[in-house]
Amino acid sequence: SSNIRLAVIPGDGIGTEVVAEGLKVLDAVGVKVESTHYDLGAARYHATGETLPDSVLAELRGFDAILLGAVGDPSVPPGVLERDLLLRLRFELDHYVNLRPVKLFPGVETPLGKARPEDVDMVVVREGTEGPYAGAGGVLRKGTPHEIATQDSVNTAYGVERVVRYAFEKAAGRERRHLTLVHKTNVLTFAGDLWSRTVKRVAEEYPQVTTDYCHVDAASMFFVSQPQRFDVIVTDNLFGDIITDIGAAIAGGIGLSASGNVNPDRTAPSMFEPVHGSAPDIAGQGKADPSATILSVAMLLDHIGQAEAAARVEQAVADDLVERAGAWAARTTREIGDDIAARVAG
Ligand code: NAD
Ligand code: IPM
Ligand code: MN
Repeated sequence: SSNIRLAVIPGDGIGTEVVAEGLKVLDAVGVKVESTHYDLGAARYHATGETLPDSVLAELRGFDAILLGAVGDPSVPPGVLERDLLLRLRFELDHYVNLRPVKLFPGVETPLGKARPEDVDMVVVREGTEGPYAGAGGVLRKGTPHEIATQDSVNTAYGVERVVRYAFEKAAGRERRHLTLVHKTNVLTFAGDLWSRTVKRVAEEYPQVTTDYCHVDAASMFFVSQPQRFDVIVTDNLFGDIITDIGAAIAGGIGLSASGNVNPDRTAPSMFEPVHGSAPDIAGQGKADPSATILSVAMLLDHIGQAEAAARVEQAVADDLVERAGAWAARTTREIGDDIAARVAG
């Protein structure tokens, strides 16, 4: 078959370091890939003032998938790269599913102590194009003691239904077939009601999937105290952002958490990236764990119809994790990438 056309956005900080290892593993797995690098991020912003030029966005639409490291840098005001580059990509390419598995691999240490891999095995289906991320709101009387800043959460019937449907499909395909809506219906009554009614209505089409509901504060607690409660979770953009960092922590750390910004309708390329950011505190030191990016590469392969290659990459990371038990800090970013690539190559 023809080459996979991949756009690569290494981005800032450790983004460039971990993406190099992701590409190394992709190369080792033997899938024919033709990749094109885009220098979007802090350096380009400082040099030209550009975050995501329209011409680049148009080009990106032509790829089969996108691999992103991370964006954000202390030298750029907060929000510039996050909103105008990363979120703009998610919105423009209609990544309405932000898919974030929370999975404890065998041998990985967790702050939960005695938790076993079967206790922490869930998938968070985070909405990716709406909620408080939509950018609705504004500021009045800025800089005065009477300043009023609002940041509205946008929830459309269309947007909620499509992500809820995706979550039901995902749940129907898993062993436990259980779906939890996470929200804050006791306070955010307008949005919460829309989400609840939508889940209830779509549930009628999925009698094989059991459903329940959990407020986001309680869900945060249960992630830590009873993670086995959860199988598939569906939630809004902001709640999903927060609980997946908790998810990362309970599954062995942010260096292991993969994600996919998925356009299930395939009207534009999906984009895969680690859950973590550019980590300025460790950037350039070879200390970043590339596993999250490599697992994101596995998700990417799965999305483009390379399930066998995806499984091989995930297994190579799993095997590496068993071997590193207790001593992961002893290897550099590049060494971890080399070891996983060697396993993948067989
Ligand atoms: P962060 O995820 O970059 O870092 C949080 C902590 O986790 C840091 O101590 C960091 O050293 C550690 N860490 C992160 N990735 C790691 C890895 N692979 N291996 C080992 N340790 C790792 O979050 P932050 O510090 O809140 O944000 C830094 C910047 O990144 C900000 O500009 C933020 O906006 C941006 N950010 C971008 C993305 C993205 O591009 N998707 C995601 C989150 C944050
Ligand atoms: C993430 C990040 C982003 C988000 C930021 C950088 C916009 O935290 O991918 O989890 O909030 O979605
Ligand atoms: Mn986040």
